[in-house]
Amino acid sequence: SLCCKRASLLLFALVLLLTAECLRARRPRSFPPGPRAFPLVGNMFSLDPGDLSEKYGKVYSLKMGPSWTVVLNGLSALQEGLTKGDHLNDRPEFPIHSDFSHFINRLFYTHCIIFSNGHMWKQQRRFALFTLKYFGVGKKSLEFSILDEFMYISKEIANHKGKPFNPHLIMNNAVSNIICSLVFGHRFEYGNENVELLYLYLSIHSPFNLYNAFPVLMRRLPGPHHALQNIYGEIMDLIKTEVNQHKEDWNPSEPRDFIDCYLNEIQKDKRDDEADAGFNEDNLVMCGFDLFGAGSHTTSVTLRWALLYMTKYPEVQAKVQAEIDEVVGTSRQPSMEDRADLPYTDAVIHEIQRMGNIVPLSLPHVTTRDIRLGGYKIPKGVTIIPNLTSVLFDKNEWETPDAFNPGHFLNPEGKFVKRAAFIPFSAGKRVCLGENLARMELFLFFTSFMQRFSFSTPPGVEPVLKPRFGVTLSPPPFEICATPRKE
Ligand code: HEM
Repeated sequence: SLCCKRASLLLFALVLLLTAECLRARRPRSFPPGPRAFPLVGNMFSLDPGDLSEKYGKVYSLKMGPSWTVVLNGLSALQEGLTKGDHLNDRPEFPIHSDFSHFINRLFYTHCIIFSNGHMWKQQRRFALFTLKYFGVGKKSLEFSILDEFMYISKEIANHKGKPFNPHLIMNNAVSNIICSLVFGHRFEYGNENVELLYLYLSIHSPFNLYNAFPVLMRRLPGPHHALQNIYGEIMDLIKTEVNQHKEDWNPSEPRDFIDCYLNEIQKDKRDDEADAGFNEDNLVMCGFDLFGAGSHTTSVTLRWALLYMTKYPEVQAKVQAEIDEVVGTSRQPSMEDRADLPYTDAVIHEIQRMGNIVPLSLPHVTTRDIRLGGYKIPKGVTIIPNLTSVLFDKNEWETPDAFNPGHFLNPEGKFVKRAAFIPFSAGKRVCLGENLARMELFLFFTSFMQRFSFSTPPGVEPVLKPRFGVTLSPPPFEICATPRKE
């Protein structure tokens, strides 16, 4: 009879839990519409943002695990949400990120730029932007570093002598080296295990969404997310080692790189009376982590898409090469000043980014107060997802949204035209911090590749453009042949 009592108690608890879940799965009144949410899982497994927008409109809601989320679709909804006012500037909590940085390094919720909010985010972001600019973003010095790095990658490519090779690792190495030069003040040789570590964690296909929706459960379940923990730790250790080495010969009046500048800022922050802006050594490590995490994988993935698209559309590749040959020639390397004279090449790079759509749902934001958006009332603390795909592929914005068409960025006279719906870096105050750096890298690497090599798939192999879902939408693994062009 004790057993019976226990069983009925358990049943009662289960019924109570289910009833509570059914109630919580009901959409709050005045909330944007959306598909029916199921108890416990909500809409976790019914995601096809494109179809949902046709059915429910530009602003709709979903229940992701236990919490409600609002998805913004189309340029005007995104602009209304992200660029008017500062009520969407914050990020929601990312349990996977806080857990791993916290447990491994005993850092208490160390958030630097990507995951921080309020005063600290503003100060850290302002400092990072200023420092990146100081070390050459938009200037000749960085241009030389990128072109220099191209010489290394071009040697690696030439070593394959036109035979098929997978460009994944060397591309990661090359772009990580640009961030290494800015943050550490030096580059690494290709194949060095440290530089591989810096982007490895982004290649692990982990159930990020599940972890963030059900952190308590996921902490206990086995899975690839646990492998991430060790890698997080190793990366932090690597950055810490660099910081310690910098401290040994750091001269405040002659900062060599991001780490030196941050060490200076830590000193200033100690003297400041105003609210803590978070300049301390733990956050310096985290900032390095942010810059590598956000800056190397994204650019490498885009460059890999670029090569893949050029093999798929050899006529576009030939036209780009002809333009570069005419404007730059072969006796010097391309420079940022050439961009204005290379409208077709510029249009192709933009179209690669549009079609590549590597961060399809941007990063989540959260409402900092009760707001009105798209005519709906959305309370404080609701996660907002800017659906960049809905803008980059909007049939009302693009003539042929699903086709690779550099003409999207050219006027009838062949001049480059900017398009408001080109938002792969998102928009508003939280727009990608590395946009200018990424644009420089994409332009200089891409034009240099096109100037020196012709790319094709191995004989008999068709390029596959179906993306792989992970932290970003990346090309499936592929091999490529690079034939050197005339010197
Ligand atoms: C944020 C895209 C390269 C650093 C973002 C966001 C997107 C994005 C969509 C989210 C914006 C939002 O929250 O609304 C891209 C793409 C890149 C790229 C497509 C390359 C093709 C870079 C590079 C860096 C970088 C090279 C290195 C400096 C960051 C940082 C944030 C960010 C630090 C967080 C900004 C904040 O929270 O204030 N990026 N990114 N990104 N990106 Fe990039």
